[in-house]
Amino acid sequence: MSIDEFSAPAKVILFGEHAVVYGSPAIAVPIPTLRARAYIEPYDQFAIVTDNLHNDGIQLNVDFDDVNNSLTRLTALILQHFDALQPDARITIQSDIPIASGLGSGAAVSAALGRAIAHALGHTIENEQLNNIVYEVEKIHHGTPSGIDNTVVVYEMPIFFRKQQPIQLLKCQSPIHILIADTGRSALTKESVGDVRNLFEQNPADIQAIFDQIKSLVDRARVCLQAGNVEEIGKLMVTNHELLQRLTVSSPELDKLVTAAVDAGAYGAKLSGGGRGGNMIAIVEEANAQQVQSALIQAGAVRVFSSVFT
Ligand code: PMV
Repeated sequence: MSIDEFSAPAKVILFGEHAVVYGSPAIAVPIPTLRARAYIEPYDQFAIVTDNLHNDGIQLNVDFDDVNNSLTRLTALILQHFDALQPDARITIQSDIPIASGLGSGAAVSAALGRAIAHALGHTIENEQLNNIVYEVEKIHHGTPSGIDNTVVVYEMPIFFRKQQPIQLLKCQSPIHILIADTGRSALTKESVGDVRNLFEQNPADIQAIFDQIKSLVDRARVCLQAGNVEEIGKLMVTNHELLQRLTVSSPELDKLVTAAVDAGAYGAKLSGGGRGGNMIAIVEEANAQQVQSALIQAGAVRVFSSVFT
């Protein structure tokens, strides 16, 4: 019996989270070594088994009326796209990506599952269509997602993203090494996005001024990434983190990790994603990655991943 496998990566936002919801650009990269996977095998009915997600090992009876379940919503949208009925297949989902921590776990699970269901129906789904579908599912987790998570996860390339604009792929001059450190505290993006919305409504001029500073910084970061100017990229990260603090989406744990990384010699560091918990990222030189990693663990990180992108 053959088992087919489909997958999608985790992601981090390098620059521009939160402001991206209001139309500013942002930069995100995939983390190819951390993945969500969907395995398909023939079966006498349609079933989805979640092997190591939070609802451990449950075989899901696909209830298409449950619009708040992301797996069933995704399934319904894929079936609708192909105008098909449920295939006789069992799809098992496994993911290495920590949930609710700013690494795009939900989008990666949706993308892997979408590819697997399409395959079980005898089709291949194009990235553009899959991206639109995963975006619809992201609304369950995020309320008003900008679309950056689904885009970087589906295309699996570094991107310069702006809401409702064509995707721009980003090519860096040389490999960039990053460390991703987990505070161990999960946080809901929907909540931090909602709090930024409240701040914006209370004080639109001041918050717009912060978004404008983030926008200029992201434009500059793009140029520096293309030119391989890691020192300046690091400084821009620290400034971006300070602007995110002013948007109230950092936390004592995130601030501590950012300071620890910079003190240990990282070019720069910042929170990544929704904030309040989840993960932070640091840009490092390969030669001192180990030193920064140890400093992060000492400052309270529960785990540290490393990754490289170009
Ligand atoms: O899913 P997260 O936690 O990586 O955050 C997504 C980034 C935000 O800008 C905060 C929200 C969005 O939809 O872009």
